[in-house]
Parts: sequence; C-alpha cells; structure tokens
Amino acid sequence: MPGFKGLAVPGPTNMPFEVRQAMDVALEDHRAPDFPSFTKPLLEDLKKVFRTENGHVIVFPGSGTGGWEAAIANTLSPGDKVLASVFGQFSYLWVDLCKRFGLEVDAIDVEWGRGVPVDEYEARLAADKEHKIKAVLVCHNETATGVTSDVAAVRRVLDGLGHPALLFVDGVSSIASLEFRMEEWGVDVAVSGSQKGFMMPTGLAIVGVSQKALAAKTTATMPTCFFDFGDMLKTNADGYFPYTPAATLLRGLRASVDMLLDEGLDNVAKRHRRLADGVRAAVDAWGLSNCAQGPEWHSDTVTAIVVPEGFDANDVIKTAYHRYDLSLGAGLSKVAGKVFRIGHLGWLNEIMVMQALGGVEMAMRDVGIPFEPGAGTGAAVKSFSATAEAAPGTVKTAA
Ligand SMILES: Cc1ncc(COP(=O)(O)O)c(C=O)c1O
Repeated sequence: MPGFKGLAVPGPTNMPFEVRQAMDVALEDHRAPDFPSFTKPLLEDLKKVFRTENGHVIVFPGSGTGGWEAAIANTLSPGDKVLASVFGQFSYLWVDLCKRFGLEVDAIDVEWGRGVPVDEYEARLAADKEHKIKAVLVCHNETATGVTSDVAAVRRVLDGLGHPALLFVDGVSSIASLEFRMEEWGVDVAVSGSQKGFMMPTGLAIVGVSQKALAAKTTATMPTCFFDFGDMLKTNADGYFPYTPAATLLRGLRASVDMLLDEGLDNVAKRHRRLADGVRAAVDAWGLSNCAQGPEWHSDTVTAIVVPEGFDANDVIKTAYHRYDLSLGAGLSKVAGKVFRIGHLGWLNEIMVMQALGGVEMAMRDVGIPFEPGAGTGAAVKSFSATAEAAPGTVKTAA
C-alpha cells in the first residue's frame, strides 16, 4: 500500500531524519588520529542524558540484553545473591539471565500490571542482616505491560536500611524518554539500548556505570571479555575502543543526543507524558482497560491494552498490520492474545499518536470489538487540545 507504514511498537521506534542523515556517511577509520575529537564529547554528553556526573556511560555494540549481561558479569561473582521481581516478560528475562550466570536470585513474583514491590524489597533487605544480597534489580519500565516503577523509592529503601547492595536498573524503555536520574537515584548500573528513546536502529547497548559499580568490579570473579567495563574505560579515556566500534551507529547517536539535549530532558519527559495521556484517554473512551493496574503504574512510553473477553488481541494486531500497514506491539508470554501494545516513545508527536489510534480503531472495528468509532480518537483530540497551552506553538486568533 502506498504511504508511510505506521510504527507504533515500543521499540524500535521512529527514526528522525537527522539521525538517518548522520549515519549516511562513508565508513571511517576508528583508529584515526581525530576519532577521539568525535567520541570523547559524545561519551561526555551521554552522561547528561543519564544524568550522571561522577559515573561513566559505556557504549557496547549489542542491545539491551547485552547491557543486562554487562551489568551482572562485571560486578558480581557466581553464587552471589540478587533481589529482583518479575511482572512482565522483560523483568522475567533479566532474572533468567542472572540464573544462567550462576547467581542466586530471590525473584518476587508480582501480578502482571503492577511493578516493583517496594515494601517487599524493604522487608527482604531488612531481613538480610549479613548483607548477602549483593545487587537489587529494578525494571524501571516493563515494556510488556506498560508499567513504570519507582526507582527513587528503592534507593530510599536501601539508604534507609544502610544496605550496601548495588542498584541495577533496566532503563531500556525509559532512559531518554521518561525522567531518569542515575546519580540522584543512586543507580549503579543503568542499562539502555539504542532503539527506543534514543530513536536509533538496534545495535548499541548503552550502559551507565557508577564509581561504586566500578569498585565492585575489582572483586567480581565472573569472566568478562566483550562486555568488560575496564577494557572499555581504559581505551575510552583516549577516545578509542578495545575492538571495532559501531562507528556509523555512533554518528547516529551523536545526532540523537543532540536532539535530546536541544529539546531538554525535562521537555522530553513532559512530551511523553502528554502524548501518553492522550493514549490513555482513548483507552478509557473505548471502554477498554489498561494492563497497568493504576495511575501509579502507568507508563508514558507504552500502553498495553486489554481486549474484551472472547477476543484475541493478535487479531487486532494482524488486521492493523495487513490492512492498514500499522505495527502494534504484541502481548508477550502470559499476556499473549490478551493485550496489544501501543508504543508512544521516541521521535513522536500528536499526529503520529493519532495515526496509531486511528489505525487501532479501524482494526478493532474490523474484528468486531464493540466501541463507538471515533470515541478514542476524539478523547485523544480533547486531551491534546486541553493541554495544548503547555505545548509550544499554540496560536490563538481572537474571535
Ligand atoms: C524493558 C526492556 N528490557 C530489556 C529489553 C531487551 O532489550 P533488547 O531487545 O534490546 O536486547 C527490552 C526490549 O524490548 C525491554 O523493553
């Protein structure tokens, strides 16, 4: 079908022209004498996106999963105990990775639709008088269910108890889109990937590392090679890499970081909130429910929408794809067939959200889900226009 394909999955996200153009360059010599004049400022500016001054941001070729592995392998030893919680496919997969690396994982099972159980974390950490728990895992934004958890609250718990465990955060679908404050929240390893908030192709694991995490590396006994923090930091100090970097992607990352910093991270987060509010208004108006079980869990980057009993969410997804060229996110694992997801993160504005909502309405109508056509899109229009004052560019002509 002619026209744009709609990409409303929660990663990969839509890629800005600036990022595409920045990568449309001849391949380059990553050992050139002037390569550091490109890489050093980029690595410094990435620290602004993670909001850390004392930590480092390391860019590995890879994806978010590689970032998870880097966090674990660099700082822990086989048999170490970690505290985690599982409330969606991604929090589950990180726990699975920890187990494969020989860690002892205390994984709290949480109903899907809720997030990190801060009180439970507090109870387990308080009971851990001998400080056997070496790291606490938080999936900041569970992309499978559209649930955001409170990282700062987990830091307060650790500090309140004087517990020395490292704090590891999966920020794959939050960093560079939701509010994220690595240093203020005392995050020791923050994991992201290039294909979500950074508006890039997949291919980079972008990992924030605190000084405390680097200190833990000196006693950790897990083997690391490709994802070794030390090798990276040693060569990064001179603007180089221990092996061939994904230089073309780094060119794109430069453009992405410029765009994020130009917009301002607070504005980026506000834009995501405003767009997400429009999506949530649509879901309410359709009479459907959000998989996230309450406003405290609502994600501003992805919404998982529960289809009514008797319907298969995959039918909505397939119809949207085949008939309207619109990609929606599928329900994963426990929620397969029960939810479809709208990704609303990255390079995105109101009309792109309206495109997704319009496509969802057409697909839902085609598969017979009962709702009033235009109810959701209309609610989103109302939401956007009610908050337009807060958005730049509103022009009002006097009557
Ligand atoms: C929250 C979260 N963590 C981790 C991952 C895994 O990242 P990747 O697919 O880039 O390896 C994803 C992927 O969507 C994710 O959404």
